[in-house]
Parts: sequence; C-alpha cells; structure tokens
Amino acid sequence: MNRNIDIERLVALARAARRQAYAPYSHYRVGAAVLAKSGKMYAGCNVENAAYPSGLCAERVAIFKAVSEGERRLVALVVVTSNLGSPCGACRQVFSEFADDEAMIVLAPARGKSRRVYCLQDLLPNRFGAAHLL
Ligand code: THU
Repeated sequence: MNRNIDIERLVALARAARRQAYAPYSHYRVGAAVLAKSGKMYAGCNVENAAYPSGLCAERVAIFKAVSEGERRLVALVVVTSNLGSPCGACRQVFSEFADDEAMIVLAPARGKSRRVYCLQDLLPNRFGAAHLL
C-alpha cells in the first residue's frame, strides 16, 4: 500500500500550500497535504487570526477540505515547515478520526530532500476513537 503513495507529489502540494500561509503573528509557515483513499489529494496552510485561538493549523485545513469534499478515509499526511516541525496533538487527533494506525505521516522541509516518515500509531499511540463511545 505505502509503496503506491506518491509522497513527492504530496510534498510538492504541501510546499505550494505553505506559500499561501497566513502567519503574520508567529511567522511560522506550515503547508500540509493529505491523500484520501479515493486517490485525491487536498492541501492547506495555516491561517492565523488577531484573536489567536481562532486560527487553524495547516493540517486541519487540509483534512477539513478533504472531508468537506466527501472524503472519509485518509491514508497519508505530509507536513512542510522550515524545520521538520511535527503535527500538534489536536491535528494528530483530527487525522486519527479518518485514518488507520498504519496511515503515513511525513515531515518534509520547505527545501531539500530530508524526510521523516512515521505512521499514525507512532505519533498517536493508544488513541481515543469512535469505538470508545460505543
Ligand atoms: N501550526 C500548524 O499549522 N501545524 C501544527 O501542527 C503546529 C502549528 C501553526 C499554527 C500557527 O499558525 C503556527 O504554526 C505557530 O504555532
């Protein structure tokens, strides 16, 4: 399964999205891209707000774009920052809602070839999910 995921295309989309980041307060620009089980890809950037908590991370923008287009299963998430920043806890949990333990999470820099590759279980072990509510 992972062999067929075009990570470099997701990295390119996330890099392009990062260029649209609206981050006048932190100046920390983030781009993200997700691959849905359908094969479609969705990208997003962080969008800050003068009322700080009203802003949103790039990962959740990308995930919510996918879900709002009808996607329900996501198989990969790529995050692009200047320094291989890792998704925050809230973004891991939101990704978890739509992903299996084996879903890939890849960190990539804005420039350069280094990649850090994880699966969701690495970054969110013993996760809370729908099954706990049954
Ligand atoms: N940010 C993300 O977009 N994703 C993360 O996983 C961590 C943080 C954004 C939020 C805010 O706009 C800026 O980075 C600094 O926290």
